[in-house]
Amino acid sequence: MTFPAQRPRRLRRTPALRRLVAETRLHPADFILPVFVREGLSDPVPISSMPGVLQHTEESLLGAAEEATELGLGGIMLFGIPAERDAQGSAGLDPEGILNRSIRAVKNRVGEDLPVMSDLCLDEFTDHGHCGVLDSAGCVDNDATLEIYAQMGVVQADSGADVVAPSGMMDGQVAVIREGLDAAGHQQVPILAYAAKYASAFYGPFREAVDSQLSGDRRQYQMDAPNRTEAIREVELDLAEGADMVMVKPASAYLDILSDVAELSDVPVSAYQVSGEYAMIEAAAANGWVDRQAVVLETLTAIRRAGATNVLTYYAAEAARWLHSR
Ligand code: PBG
Repeated sequence: MTFPAQRPRRLRRTPALRRLVAETRLHPADFILPVFVREGLSDPVPISSMPGVLQHTEESLLGAAEEATELGLGGIMLFGIPAERDAQGSAGLDPEGILNRSIRAVKNRVGEDLPVMSDLCLDEFTDHGHCGVLDSAGCVDNDATLEIYAQMGVVQADSGADVVAPSGMMDGQVAVIREGLDAAGHQQVPILAYAAKYASAFYGPFREAVDSQLSGDRRQYQMDAPNRTEAIREVELDLAEGADMVMVKPASAYLDILSDVAELSDVPVSAYQVSGEYAMIEAAAANGWVDRQAVVLETLTAIRRAGATNVLTYYAAEAARWLHSR
């Protein structure tokens, strides 16, 4: 009888040994918390398809930002839901609009202790729900949208955003936003580019979260699920245009893409664990079908293991609390 000389099991014997050799670790600073703030609310509103996630009032948003700071999160990502929408999404350009004034309020509250990031996109602000303005045929007009994005970037940076995050998947968006920021004196404001963002059914619950007006889909601008090489092209373009960080979205069903992007990118890589990923874990856990905390930490570990520098996740605060109490 011959016994194996190599015994990988030796290093798995105790929790402390397993911790010693762990190749991936989670830290609160790895997490970015996406938050929704809705104009005109007197109380926070629960989002039924995302149990535990709220549409914040302008006041309750500040509490969430303070908590994120105390927990040492990597950042907070703001999404604004305006009371009034129009075809041009003009509330997104208004310095007094819900998103821009919330950036200012959060920034005043947290100072330099928490990076404040803002979603740079039109879909929350347009009455048709698309990420850009429409041409006469009703298609999203790429280049007309770019001009608006460039202005949005400046208004958000003027409001105090530490990072702007264009999520609309218009060709050339990073370049025009960079140009706009630089011309306005915001050379120090980085761009987190949603570089490989797929047209995904996993965004379903987000549409409720932002009260989306969209009928139809975003398949003419977001990426198509079958495509892997194309993600490389998207990332290379965004890097060439000056992206300071690049994102892959969604996360769990796109870990191959994330791994490719991490390999080629010489800037930090983010991944977004989106609303549908959250909702599926919540639904299974509520039924007692999976161990909630274990599954959440396993998914976050998998996303980091695949190559993400940081993760946008609705679990950010809770996961940070779990890590602090270990
Ligand atoms: C667009 C945007 C979306 C999400 C983040 N930014 C929606 C979309 O592209 O349809 C989805 C986030 C999530 O599902 O959690 N501004």
